[in-house]
Amino acid sequence: MPITACIFDAYGTLFDVSAAARNAAALPENGAIAESWQRLAADWRHKQLEYSWLRAITGEHRDFWAVTKDGLDWALAAQGLAGEAELRERLLALYWQLAAYPEVPEVLARLKQAGIATAILSNGSPAMLDAAVHSAGIEALLDDVLSVESVGIFKPAPQVYELVTTRFDCRRDSVLFVSANGWDAAAASGFGFLTAWINRAGAPPERLGHPPHEELPDLTTIPEIAAAL
Ligand code: LAC
Repeated sequence: MPITACIFDAYGTLFDVSAAARNAAALPENGAIAESWQRLAADWRHKQLEYSWLRAITGEHRDFWAVTKDGLDWALAAQGLAGEAELRERLLALYWQLAAYPEVPEVLARLKQAGIATAILSNGSPAMLDAAVHSAGIEALLDDVLSVESVGIFKPAPQVYELVTTRFDCRRDSVLFVSANGWDAAAASGFGFLTAWINRAGAPPERLGHPPHEELPDLTTIPEIAAAL
């Protein structure tokens, strides 16, 4: 079955989630995190995801912006920085302007030239995704931006992955799903998509069953892989 749609996770896959803490730490006014920004970025991301999974399990959905703020508040408190309101505001503002990884525009353009539909499928709220896509300048290279908000539950709930087959009116095995999150790639493989895990950090494989079809260091070869499947 040829691939007709290539679907990308957003945070960590197309957009560099660590950039908010890294860029903030480079400014003199944010000296409080000059040495500790990597731990802050890791805690922030980890708590953001953990809260998304817990809210999916308990059915107490709040949108990804709320979960992102809660994750940051935990990460700041863990470093004794809970009272740093200005630092918090600066970090949150930077989250709306995350840079895309350098290979992203060319990869999307090559997929489109090959006649393959391109889209984002993300936990992000529509407003967050709109801002990220706009700030990366990739609007014209995407056929759609799908947010979990239309089903009111986070990944890896299967109804999220189903947004893709509904939107593109396609079979599961004609979708190449690309994510830098091993758990997201595993869930998408289990759903029936072909998957590529972008293992930028060289992490060990997830123990969740449903291994990815491809494991790659970055997105560069996605167009060739999509054409060959
Ligand atoms: C997303 C998160 C999981 O974009 O990276 O859905």
